[in-house]
Amino acid sequence: MKGDIGVIGLAVMGQNLILNMNDHGYKVVAHNRTAEKVDEFLQGPAKGTNIVGAYSLQELVDKLESPRKIMLMVRAGYVVDSFIDKLVPLLDKGDIIIDGGNTNFPDTNRRVAALKEKGIHFIGSGVSGGEEGARFGPSIMPGGSPEAWPFVKPIFQAISAKTENNEPCCDWVGNDGAGHFVKMVHNGIEYGDMQLITEAYQFMKDGLGMTHDEMQSVFIEWNKTELNSYLVEITSDILGYKDTDGEPLVEKILDTAGQKGTGKWTGINALDMGIPLTLITESVFARCLSSLKDQRVEAEELFGKKKSIVEGDKQVWIEALRQALLASKIISYAQGFMLMREASNENGWDLNYGNVALMWRGGCIIRSAFLSNIRDAYDIDPELSFLGSDSYFKGILENSMSAWRKVAAKSMEVGIPMPSMTSALTFLDGYTTARLPANLLQAQRDYFGAHTYERVDKPKGEFFHTNWTGKGGDVSSTTYNS
Ligand code: 6PG
Repeated sequence: MKGDIGVIGLAVMGQNLILNMNDHGYKVVAHNRTAEKVDEFLQGPAKGTNIVGAYSLQELVDKLESPRKIMLMVRAGYVVDSFIDKLVPLLDKGDIIIDGGNTNFPDTNRRVAALKEKGIHFIGSGVSGGEEGARFGPSIMPGGSPEAWPFVKPIFQAISAKTENNEPCCDWVGNDGAGHFVKMVHNGIEYGDMQLITEAYQFMKDGLGMTHDEMQSVFIEWNKTELNSYLVEITSDILGYKDTDGEPLVEKILDTAGQKGTGKWTGINALDMGIPLTLITESVFARCLSSLKDQRVEAEELFGKKKSIVEGDKQVWIEALRQALLASKIISYAQGFMLMREASNENGWDLNYGNVALMWRGGCIIRSAFLSNIRDAYDIDPELSFLGSDSYFKGILENSMSAWRKVAAKSMEVGIPMPSMTSALTFLDGYTTARLPANLLQAQRDYFGAHTYERVDKPKGEFFHTNWTGKGGDVSSTTYNS
């Protein structure tokens, strides 16, 4: 009997996905560039299963049922291209290559188009949930050649995480790089969620002077509220984790954050599309700032250590912080969905936002109860342009407003950096202001560069230039918006 699917790349994610597929009754053919890895896997974790090995790409191809389905679980970038180049001559028309790595979506757009010309179908799929997700149920976000989906669907939906109603956290996202785009936004939101949690932690630790056990208890309590999520849950575990000397391990970890680039891509894409994705972008910059460790140490000496003490009833502050975190999180998701909406319109992807929320409901790093509410919001209005306008989320934003402002103001007053929570509030203030000071900005542009402006008392699309100084002349520059 031939194999149902081939997987190339036996690092931890690849191995775990294969074992997961095997658990669901699929016969998987496993290949790795180095043959020893195949042997190690077959004699180790895959021992006693139906998984078979392939020591060359030809052997892999020969061992697969048609149309062949070959999933790459290798490093994103040129490694994916090099495997595609080697596979294509061995494949038949109608065969399917799947890239399950964290690929930047323009690469997937390019690969779908290039392989289409050769009659090969290509799927670029986000896979989230880390090692454990891959093994027991990840969130899977596939996009690319729609013709390939019916062949891959049963396998992917079987191995994916399931919601509480047993719905698979995997569905077809859209054409081209839509799957990898949605995974990229997922990761951007992941950056935002993580940054918000760290800001709350710093407020509690430095501002309220709380111990790690106290903070752990707070996160345990928060996890029973609307904030219920995987990231809040692991944060409570981390805060309670003691090093061998009995001290909290988290305080021994160097405060410089790493990043592999997906959050940065999200920010770059938002700038390209003109979407105010402020919270995620601040979260990326917060990681960049954290990595300037030596400079920060010097600067603290130069400016003096801040006291950062927050006075008042601790319990009241903790509840205010919870509300500020929740409200900021709504803004982060609202911005992320705005970005997806714009990309969907621009690329003709026809994204289903309720389905995206469903795919993120389980298995992935940002899984949370909150995503069910997002799904409900898009069920009510599939074209919702701002998540905060949905009545459930609007209610939370309104109820949290005073606590959120209190936390933001206090953080500024005592010098606790909270870039994401405060920028979220600033965004909402801007978004809910009918008249912003951009009129003055337009006047400045027209003053120094004859860039023209529109008038509130004239139809849109009619442009004016004023000779502000009497010396500038009446010729205007071209009017275009990048
Ligand atoms: C996931 C994660 C994962 C990501 C890591 C590291 O969904 O399972 O998003 O894909 O690669 O979380 O990301 P950073 O190194 O950029 O923090």
